[in-house]
Amino acid sequence: MQDRIKAILQLEPSDATVKAEGWVRTKRDSKNVCFLEINDGSCLKGLQCVIDKAKTDTALLDRIGTGASITAEGRIVSSQGGNQKTEMAVETLTLIGECPADYPLQKKRHTVEFLREKAYLRPRTNLFGAVMRVRSTMAYAVHSFFQENGFVYVNTPLISASDCEGAGAQFQVTTLDLENVPKTEDGKVDYSKDFFGKMANLTVSGQLEGETYATAMKNIYTFGPTFRAENSNTARHLAEFWMIEPEMAFCTLEGDMEWAEKFLKYVFSYVLEKNAEDMEFFSKFVLDGVVDTLRHVIESPFAHMTYTEAIKVLEPENDRFEFPVKWGVEIQSEHERFLTEEVAKRPVIVTDYPKDIKAFYMKMNDDGETVRAMDVLAPRLGEIIGGSEREYRYDVLVKRMNELGLKPEDYWWYLDLRKYGTVPHAGFGLGFERAVQYVTGVANIRDVIPYPRYVKSCEY
Ligand code: 4AD
Ligand code: MG
Repeated sequence: MQDRIKAILQLEPSDATVKAEGWVRTKRDSKNVCFLEINDGSCLKGLQCVIDKAKTDTALLDRIGTGASITAEGRIVSSQGGNQKTEMAVETLTLIGECPADYPLQKKRHTVEFLREKAYLRPRTNLFGAVMRVRSTMAYAVHSFFQENGFVYVNTPLISASDCEGAGAQFQVTTLDLENVPKTEDGKVDYSKDFFGKMANLTVSGQLEGETYATAMKNIYTFGPTFRAENSNTARHLAEFWMIEPEMAFCTLEGDMEWAEKFLKYVFSYVLEKNAEDMEFFSKFVLDGVVDTLRHVIESPFAHMTYTEAIKVLEPENDRFEFPVKWGVEIQSEHERFLTEEVAKRPVIVTDYPKDIKAFYMKMNDDGETVRAMDVLAPRLGEIIGGSEREYRYDVLVKRMNELGLKPEDYWWYLDLRKYGTVPHAGFGLGFERAVQYVTGVANIRDVIPYPRYVKSCEY
């Protein structure tokens, strides 16, 4: 196993021979020496390889250009140039894979739009290398936060027969022949002939199944892909995204909010510590001051307001909004940004939304109008977490389902939880890509996931 370039860059000059493997980012030639900067994705910086032309086959050197894969063996020496502390004095150079001149990532700044078209190569750029390292660290931090706090990781199904959010934005899973769909006598699709013998979809959330495990193991979390067939062509929506959904039994909305705040702050702090170099890069080239903003968020308590209070703050500002608000309407991202950026100047947790704009499973307040929901809103992005205390009273839940036209018999197992040892419980969902966007300052969600899926786009 070879050392990664990140480790090689930490070595002091010595006579030991070191071997590096990577892809050429830049090549600079002078009369007697050639400089190759190679990168292997382990860190932002590359290793400067200095090649003495007198001792090297120049025909081989001519074949090495930007993008080629090489191995270089030599000693680590102090660097003459000012850009790096050390460099490699190469003794043996091997070309593994040539890279012709039509390589799309030539040395210049490319736009994110251009790079999206080259999604299979973009991890070789500084920006995407840094984003994907941070994404990976954040995934690790998610697991370590919950594991350290005694939560059990539960894998909920991706193919599901129930609609958690009731928004009807599901992708159907079927093996029926679409050219020749079997029909029942009354002309409807005959799902008894389908693979599962009933209609099935890709999951929009693992919450309902997560609740069944929380009401056995107390604290659980899920972390997996989620699918939404929403026709939302925005910088914060994907059709396939990753969601983290903790669920806690013997827990009310207050506990839910505490966990959410503690969790976000843990993940942010973890990345600032582990990916300091990448974070500096984002602060310098992506979003000015993003590191300071994160520090500020970690240090200050989140603001709290109810939906009703939020509407009171927003209504007098209606002139500035594309969608004016009044009590009862959905809060859109422009309002979320106003609340976080102009009013609170930090993340805000909004609670107690009107029942008509939230899902069926949220606990009804005594006013009969609002539910124990909470959304965590972040500056720049708006909603990054959606959660609630769950309705754990059997009769109230059945009544609510009927009001919304959901068939209680379709949710028989979910209702059984309210029959067999019911307990107050609560949970939330964090959109993983939105969290990565927030941490890196990257403006478009399509640039924080390797292969984004959205309306009319499913490349690679
Ligand atoms: O608010 P949502 O729809 O809540 C739920 O799914 C609940 N079942 C969560 C729970 O209580 N266990 O989604 C949760 C989060 C949102 O706050 C947002 O960050 C993200 O998931 N999200 C999306 N991210 C990217 N693209 C989309 N289309 C998203 N839809 C939701
Ligand atoms: Mg939501």
